[in-house]
Amino acid sequence: MTRGKFIVFEGGEGAGKSTQARRLIGFLEERNIPTVLTREPGGTAGAEAIRTLLLDPPAIGEGWGSRAEALLFAAARSDHVEKTIEPALAAGRWVVCDRFLASSVAYQGGAGGLGAHSLYELHQFGSAGMLPDLTLILTISPALTRNRLAKRDGEHTDAISGRPAKYHRKVADAFATIAADPRHKACSIDANAAEDEVFASIRAAVQPLIEQRSR
Ligand code: TMP
Repeated sequence: MTRGKFIVFEGGEGAGKSTQARRLIGFLEERNIPTVLTREPGGTAGAEAIRTLLLDPPAIGEGWGSRAEALLFAAARSDHVEKTIEPALAAGRWVVCDRFLASSVAYQGGAGGLGAHSLYELHQFGSAGMLPDLTLILTISPALTRNRLAKRDGEHTDAISGRPAKYHRKVADAFATIAADPRHKACSIDANAAEDEVFASIRAAVQPLIEQRSR
């Protein structure tokens, strides 16, 4: 059995990751590639419960400190890798995941001030340092982000998307650094364009993996 590929969508809030991830699943399935669509934090019953603890304001109470927050994301990821991602890849499925380690490096490491190094160490402990075959980093302008979030969330932001603009600027800076880091096998996608155009860039980035498969 040939191991499946692990493709991750990353980027700041409102970049269109979930929509494009669903489109990619359809595209792969049309090519008879078996897939799994999943997300972080989440993707197992336990990790979805941790998602609620991290993101739902009523569940959070007084709020997590930055280290506790990073540990909760890493715990959710550990469960997700062990129970969902690794078994699917071993069974030859391609896993498309909405966010993964790069989000922890950008949000908790970059914007939260913990630094990238601690996040990689935590990932080594929690998930044996497992990394994607391709990381698609969707970037959009701050003005477009504001528009999309106002439409998507209205007044109801989650605990992290509702943080100040300064925090999200640091997230964007950290993603720019990650895009140049070979560990993530990253490709930057300009997501300011129309949905079809963005998907065309994604298809082009995924094509080499599909060609490897048919060799
Ligand atoms: P979303 O996937 O629906 O955008 O929501 C997830 C939120 O959690 C988003 O604000 C980014 C944040 N997040 C982190 O801060 N660190 C992480 O490791 C992950 C996976 C998500």
